[in-house]
Parts: sequence; C-alpha cells; structure tokens
Amino acid sequence: MVEISINNLYNSWCDVFKKSGISNFKNEVLWLIQNHIDIAVGDIYASNSYIITEDIYINILNSLKKRAERYPLQYILGTQPFYTRDYFVGEGVLVPRNDTECICAKAIEFINIHKYTSFVDICSGTGCIGITLEKETQITRCIAIENSLLAYKYLEKNKDFYCSNIELKFLDIFDKKILEYLPEKFDLIVSNPPYLTEEDMGNLQPEVMHEPREALFGETNGLGFYYRIVLISKKILNKGGMILFEIGLGQSEDVIKILQDNCFLNTSYIYDENSIIRGVYGFK
Ligand SMILES: C[S@@+](CC[C@H](N)C(=O)[O-])C[C@H]1O[C@@H](n2cnc3c(N)ncnc32)[C@H](O)[C@@H]1O
Repeated sequence: MVEISINNLYNSWCDVFKKSGISNFKNEVLWLIQNHIDIAVGDIYASNSYIITEDIYINILNSLKKRAERYPLQYILGTQPFYTRDYFVGEGVLVPRNDTECICAKAIEFINIHKYTSFVDICSGTGCIGITLEKETQITRCIAIENSLLAYKYLEKNKDFYCSNIELKFLDIFDKKILEYLPEKFDLIVSNPPYLTEEDMGNLQPEVMHEPREALFGETNGLGFYYRIVLISKKILNKGGMILFEIGLGQSEDVIKILQDNCFLNTSYIYDENSIIRGVYGFK
C-alpha cells in the first residue's frame, strides 16, 4: 500500500500536462486520476491523503505519463461519448468526433421525414453513426461496413454492448465484387470516410498520429472515397433515397460536384453549431 496526496499529484501533473501543450490539462488530469480512484472533484483540492494499492498508483502514473506524451486521452480511458452513448475505443479505431454528431442529427431528421426503413453506414469504425441511427429512429434494416480488423473488433464490441440489431459486414469498399455482397437496395447511405489529403497527413496533431492512417487518409486529394461511395450508391440506393457524407474542411464544393456529376438531386450542406459546413447530401 502507498499513501498519496491527491492534491500534490494533481498539481504536479497539471504542470506537466500544461508544458506538454494539453489545453484542457486540469480536466484531463482529473479524469485520469478518477479513472482509477473514486474521488469527487472537491477531494482534489483537499489536503487529505489516500491509501491505495501500489498497483493502482503505478497505473495512475503510467496513464498520466502516456497522456503527457500526447497519447490520445480516449485510448487511455477506453471510451468516448458520442450522441448520448459511450463507445469503446482503442488503438486501431478512429475516436468518434463531436463534429460527426451533426451528421447523425441530419440523418435522423431525414429518416423521420421520409420514413426511410433501411440504411448502410459505410466506413463505420466504432459504429457510432450506424448505432446512433439504429437506436434513435424506427429504421429496421441497418448495415455497417468496415474493412479494418482492429476497427471491426470495436464495431462488434459496441454493437453487442448496445444490443444493436445492425448487421456488420467486413468488406473493402474498393473490392470489385462489392455489389455482390450488397444485393439489396437501401433508402439511405451515410458515411464519414477517410478524407485527409497528403498535406493534411503531414500536419496532424500528435494525438491524431496515433490513430490509424487508413481511417484518415482519403487518397485522390482527399476525395477518393467520395468517388467510390457515390458510384456504389448509384447502384444500391432506392429512387428518392439519400446519400449523406461527412466532409473535410473546404471539400464541400468538390463533393457536391461529385454528387451532381452522378445525377444526385437537391444537393445541400450540413452545418455544425458554429455554422461550419461539416457535411453534404443529395437524393437519387
Ligand atoms: C474517418 S473513419 C470513420 C469512422 C466512424 N464512421 C466515425 O465517424 O467515427 C473511416 C473508417 O473507414 C474505414 N475504412 C478505410 N478504408 C476502408 C475500405 N476500403 N473499406 C471499408 N472501410 C474502410 C477505416 O478503417 C475507418 O474505420
């Protein structure tokens, strides 16, 4: 057993995190300590000592050290909240981003307006989009596609945890035979594909460099997945069905053009709460 002062531990690691350039350093130190010891925020500021096992103490120190090296907080904590649910995350899967929540909100709005009954979430990662749509609407036929083995394990884990009836398909969307594995038609295709350019990849935040390259890099100037998913969608969308994408900053005109060149109608933009364009959509 070891006796520690949480107050000293907290203050010293706040300094370390600040020097490492972690902007939310106070909260992050707190969360990482709370991940191992059940303490209230107020206890941090009290000068009480705590008696904890050596193992717990070592685990706390290891997680603080890892985070100080800019290893992603969410990989250390093991979960990330998204649209009212926590998703399991870890190395090999993209951490769900808050920006993606407005994509889900728009999809839910259109599912309800048009009474859509089926969708495919392409490039599903943790499943945060697909599971949200399945849980938040009356939609009955749901499919999620992912081709990274590590990401697929998290997809399965999240599906099971939420008892989701989404059907998982381990598929590469660039596989020439992809349509053979998707023989039916759907009302909605939704995707947050990899969309970063080579230049973006050279300017990643230290945390993002720990996330899988295959979840980030979009080929063909960041647009490769949009071309491919639009082509697939032309075949597997019902008439009147919708395609809805998350996009990278500054990609809206390019992706709208891809949709229009492929005869998608009534194309438009999805804005986040700061009026930044985060997505685009169109109808077949
Ligand atoms: C930007 S992440 C999005 C994950 C999740 N939808 C989200 O919003 O957090 C893109 C995902 O596409 C997957 N992916 C990359 N290439 C793929 C391919 N050829 N076929 C299927 N999935 C692919 C990656 O493994 C990654 O999980």
